[in-house]
Amino acid sequence: MTLPAAGAAKKVFVKTYGCQMNVYDSQRMSDALAAEGYAGTDRIEDADLVLLNTCHIREKAAEKIYSELGRIRDLKADRASRGLETVVGVAGCVAQAEGREIIRRQPAVDLVIGPQTYHRLPEALRKARNGDKVVETDYAIEDKFEHLPKPRRSEIVGRGVTAFLTVQEGCDKFCTFCVVPYTRGSEVSRPVAQIVAEAEKLAEAGVREVTLLGQNVNAWHGGGPDGGEWGLGRLLARLAEIPGIARLRYTTSHPRDMDDQLIEAHRDLAALMPYLHLPVQSGSDRILKAMNRRHTTADYVGLIERIRAARPDVAISGDFIVGFPGETDADFDATLELVRTIGYAQAFSFKYSPRPGTPGAELKDQVAEAVKDERLQRLQALLSRQQRDFTAAMAGRVIDALIEKPGRQPGQRVGRSPWLQPVIIDETVGEIGDIVSVRITRTGQTSLFAEPA
Ligand code: SAH
Ligand code: SF4
Ligand code: F3S
Repeated sequence: MTLPAAGAAKKVFVKTYGCQMNVYDSQRMSDALAAEGYAGTDRIEDADLVLLNTCHIREKAAEKIYSELGRIRDLKADRASRGLETVVGVAGCVAQAEGREIIRRQPAVDLVIGPQTYHRLPEALRKARNGDKVVETDYAIEDKFEHLPKPRRSEIVGRGVTAFLTVQEGCDKFCTFCVVPYTRGSEVSRPVAQIVAEAEKLAEAGVREVTLLGQNVNAWHGGGPDGGEWGLGRLLARLAEIPGIARLRYTTSHPRDMDDQLIEAHRDLAALMPYLHLPVQSGSDRILKAMNRRHTTADYVGLIERIRAARPDVAISGDFIVGFPGETDADFDATLELVRTIGYAQAFSFKYSPRPGTPGAELKDQVAEAVKDERLQRLQALLSRQQRDFTAAMAGRVIDALIEKPGRQPGQRVGRSPWLQPVIIDETVGEIGDIVSVRITRTGQTSLFAEPA
């Protein structure tokens, strides 16, 4: 194989919005483009290909893309005046949801590609470079993961000691507020062997911590090599056996898919970190029903109790939506009450954003923006207090930290606690990739400061 001469390689600038699945996908697309001779750059003005990997979850996220594309159009014109070609691509969930409409709104866009067709990116790129406007948003029948080039070991080395690994994609749950079932399609689980092979490759390249990803990661299921049907708990047990893999996490889970096997995995697997992101959205049964979450507040509280019984030090994190249509003061108070009952280590909260094509957007009784603002503020104040208290309770404790990278100050390194908190430690304490025992001397809103134990 002949490599392009230094400086002659084409450059790609990738910008990623939205969830961790997009982060993983951007990495896989970059790998695919590397095989086509594209080197990554973080200087957009140098890029022969600009690729935005977009998110459609809330209106603000989606609209942000168009202002970004406006800036890119100017950049493209500027480069063209210097005789340089720039291909502008839009990938991700806005691409899937809006398709050709994106090119209509911003004609500087050459290529629109949805998440199910990333393995066709090299071909689509060739067409775009020939001057065609390309829109690839069909749901492909072939397995995109199988067809995407596998990253070479040399490419993974140096990316860090933590990695994402998508094991499940799509969603069949159709919560009435959510676009994901429309942008990511129906639930698909990757086969066990494919996941194990990818995790082994990551481990060989020095990865110590793997986070399994899925829109509904705990809905993952697959035929195991023993012929039996595996759930996520069994898969985690298998991955924990891989030499080098010291820590496992998974996100995002749906309360309805937390089965006994997975709860037992929290009890039995030392490698499974005591941290669970389990969104509930609302503490009002009436609103949960209108959202089509298909569980009650009591179900959720009972579930958390069982998980805490299995793993007493598990930290719970969640997502909340305020101002879903019809949400009254009493409904919102029930959410605050649930938050007090559970006690969250961390959480994301959002104002309801009506999304075109979802049932929620059609409902009467949309909540006024000012009411949403006020509720969001109150909820976030409570959640932020809980987070600070959770962090403060770490003071004086001796914990394990995985050393991830150099710190911002000379002489420091940054590690990660089992509960996802950054841990600032002295650089004399072990090497990057080591798990070290440290004593917490001081705490911030989210960070821990530590000395060797
Ligand atoms: N599959 C996950 C969530 C994926 S979307 C689950 O079921 O929990 C991530 C988060 O975005 C959701 O948990 C929800 O809190 C928020 N979200 C989704 N649609 C939204 C909308 N229309 N308006 C506001 N927030 C939304
Ligand atoms: Fe969206 Fe609900 Fe599916 Fe989560 S479970 S991705 S919130 S439809
Ligand atoms: Fe956004 Fe798509 Fe993820 S809508 S949250 S990027 S699945």
